[in-house]
Order: sequence, then C-alpha cells, then structure tokens
Amino acid sequence: MKKTKGLPKILVVDDDEQIRKQIQWALSDEFSVFSAGDRPSAIETFKKEAIPVVLLDLGLPPHPREAVEGLQALDELISMDPLIKVIIVSGNSERGNALAAIDQGAHDIFPKPVDLDELKVVLHRVYKRIQLEKESIEERNLGQRVSFEEIVGSSPPMQEIFATVSKIASTDIPVLITGESGTGKELIANAIHNRSPRKDAPFIAINCGAIPDTLIESELFGHEKGSFTGATTQRRGRLEYAHKGTLFLDEIGDLAPELQVKILRFLQEKVIERVGGRQLISIDSRVIAATNQNLEEEVKANRFREDLYFRLAVVKIALPPLRERGGDVLELAQHLVQVFSKELKKPPKKFSKPALEAIRRYEWPGNVRELQNRVKRALVLSDSPTIGPLELELEIPGGEANGASTLKEAKEAFERDILISALQENNNNISKTAKALGISRPTLYDLISRYGL
Ligand SMILES: Nc1ncnc2c1ncn2[C@@H]1O[C@H](COP(=O)(O)OP(=O)(O)OP(=O)(O)O)[C@@H](O)[C@H]1O
Ligand SMILES: [Mg+2]
Repeated sequence: MKKTKGLPKILVVDDDEQIRKQIQWALSDEFSVFSAGDRPSAIETFKKEAIPVVLLDLGLPPHPREAVEGLQALDELISMDPLIKVIIVSGNSERGNALAAIDQGAHDIFPKPVDLDELKVVLHRVYKRIQLEKESIEERNLGQRVSFEEIVGSSPPMQEIFATVSKIASTDIPVLITGESGTGKELIANAIHNRSPRKDAPFIAINCGAIPDTLIESELFGHEKGSFTGATTQRRGRLEYAHKGTLFLDEIGDLAPELQVKILRFLQEKVIERVGGRQLISIDSRVIAATNQNLEEEVKANRFREDLYFRLAVVKIALPPLRERGGDVLELAQHLVQVFSKELKKPPKKFSKPALEAIRRYEWPGNVRELQNRVKRALVLSDSPTIGPLELELEIPGGEANGASTLKEAKEAFERDILISALQENNNNISKTAKALGISRPTLYDLISRYGL
C-alpha cells in the first residue's frame, strides 16, 4: 500500500464503479479511501477498519433503484458505531429518501453529481467536527484521569483492592464500588478503565443524583427532534458516548424507579432507544456503578430493584474509610503536600510532628477529600516551612510531659501543654491567647513555631 497510513479514513459505498474510482482518485492525497459496492462488503470493510466517515449511495444492489439496501446499511453502521458520520450522496430524484436517511441518523446529504472540491471541504469539516466531539468528551473526563500508580494505599485492605482491580480490569464484568463519601470511588472506577483494553475510548461518568429527574432520561438516552417540548434538535445521550468505553454510573442509589427499569434493560440487551425514537442503537460499554448508600438495605426496603442490583454487583469493591487504613493517612498527607505544592507553585513543606500526630488521631469523616481540603488550605495559609495542626484546623495533641527525661524536656513539655490549652481556650485566637498568657504576640508566634503547632 502507498503512504495512506495516518490519513483520515473514508469509506465510499456506491454500486457505480466509475464513481468509486473517481472519488478515490480525487481524495487519495488527503484521505485513506476504502470502497465498497454493496451493503455486505461495506459492513465488512467497516468492521475491519473502523472508519468514522462514510459516503453512502442509497441505491445499492440488489435494489439499485430503491433505497432499502442503503437505509439498512445506514442502520447497521449506526448500531455498530453510534458516533459514525454517514453522508448520503444522492441525486435530486432521491431527495425524499435522503431526508428519510437524515431522520434515521445520517449526518448530512451531499448532491450528485459530485463536485470533488466541494466534497473535500465537507469531509474536512466533518473530521473537524469529530475532533471537537472527541475533545469535548475528553475534557469532560479529564479532571479525574489518574493512573493507578498515583493512588496511595499501602494498607492491607487497599492492597487487596488493587489486586482485585488488576484482576478484573481486562474483563467486561460489571463492578459495584461502595464506600463513604470521599473514599476514592471514582478514582478506582477510573483506574479500572485506564487499565482495561477500553482505555483509549471514553470514560463517561454520570452522576445519577445530580441530574434533575425530568432531564435524566434524555441526558442518558438522548432524544429525537420534536420528541418533547424543547427538543428542537436530535441529541445523543451520554450512554451513546460511552460506546466502546466505560460507563460510570455514580450515585446509582439515587436513580428513580422508572430509570432503574430502563438501565436494567440496557444492561440486559445492550441496546438503547432515544426518547421519541424508534430505532434500537447497540452500545458496547463496560459498566461500573458506585454508591455511598447501602444498596442491600435499599433493595430490602424496595427502593432499589433487586434484579438491577445483581446485574451491577457482579464484582463488589468496598472502599474502607480512611480511618481504617492505618498509616495510609500519613502517606497520603505527604503525597498531597507534594502534589498541591506543585499545583500552587509553592515550595514544598513538611508537617510538624504534632501535625502528623493530629492527622493520625483524627477520624476523617470526609475521608480523602477532607484531607485534600485541609492540606490545601494549610499550604495556602502557612508562611513557615512547616505545617502545624493549627493550620490544618485539627486539634493539637497534648499531654506528653510524662515521657520527658531531662528537666529541660519537662519544662518544654510543660510550656507546650500550657500553650496548647491556652490556644484551645481562646479558639486559637492569637491576640487573646497572648493576652491570657501575658506574653506579646511575636513571642507567642515564636513559641507556636518552635513547638510546631
Ligand atoms: N488513595 C488515594 N490516593 C490518592 N488520591 C486519592 C485517593 N483516594 C481518593 N483520592 C482523591 O480524593 C478525591 C476524592 O475521591 P473520589 O472523587 O474518587 O471519591 P468518591 O468516593 O467518588 O467521593 P464521593 O462519594 O464524594 O463522590 C479525588 O480527588 C481523588 O483523586
Ligand atoms: Mg464520587
């Protein structure tokens, strides 16, 4: 083959060999052109080459004077790739059929006889559009794209989770991730996707709890033009965008009962129908769901469908709260300081000993997200090279005077304890604390920094 590698691919489907050759010849500088003379060979070539743009003549053998074969080809192409752009190449007499094809999901109509220069312009525009669609999908998901290696977790329960992730990532098995808010459910979902053969296709996250009930069906499944007031154009749903990739159904416990039925149907049959549409669209995507609710309880209380639960929870990953991950919390805190220092363009800082102790003792009800927030705030607020518990807005651990062995250590421990209780009594207000202790504010600052508070 010639140097067609890397060029955008086009499939030309026309029963007239002359036309195929002419188009091929005209486009071959700028496109990698494939051609087919009938529906079966068009489908076969598409399956082999995954071509994103197809020029389709509707009158194909064995019925070259009708549109049936062409329309069927269109249907099959769309069901294999919902994002495919099919351009109908048609003469004036076939206008009615061409419009029917647009109704079925064709991207555009191009008039016959074909003006080749015009065709090139149109094709480049279509490719530009494809590029934009891809970027917008990626943008939506970029915020959370993290490689597995960036997930901190040396504790045994996290190690076990990483092992599970590695085992199941290459399969299409549905996964249900549970855990308190902020424990990293979306992060794990992402890690599964990024380690799967689907990693180059989109990861589409849908927060089932955040979309208003009235909009969620069309958001998920898309809609046809005119299917309800306000549906002025046809629109693809998020599920269609997840084709070939991973669909992440976040907060699945919030899904309304009618939609539970529709999602169940999608999981069983792997097809969807747009709102107001008649056509079935096949979607090939891996499904990962997440919730911070107890779905078993929800099933018992008849708020969540049992059949849907079993479909989703083939593999379950239960993320432990941060307070049950032992030393992970310290490791994470240090990791986050580095990440955020870079992000905020600040010199990296260390935690003081009391700060580390305070982090270890705290319960972290908001889990990793809370840790992120406190570390970030401390980095922004603190001027000294160390971060103390005060900057993290954590309680200062006290009462270590007993362990002192020399008089100097005992005096220091005593001074520190007094300082801590005075700060606590005065809600960490510096002026008030200084006054209560009978020292100046600069002296108090010195002491706070000396004891790493
Ligand atoms: N083990 C970890 N290592 C590094 N970063 C983590 C870890 N766990 C969570 N994070 C980070 O903490 C933040 C919260 O995680 P994530 O959004 O995945 O939690 P979630 O369980 O989906 O929370 P919610 O229930 O609130 O939606 C994210 O920015 C994520 O990157
Ligand atoms: Mg989440």
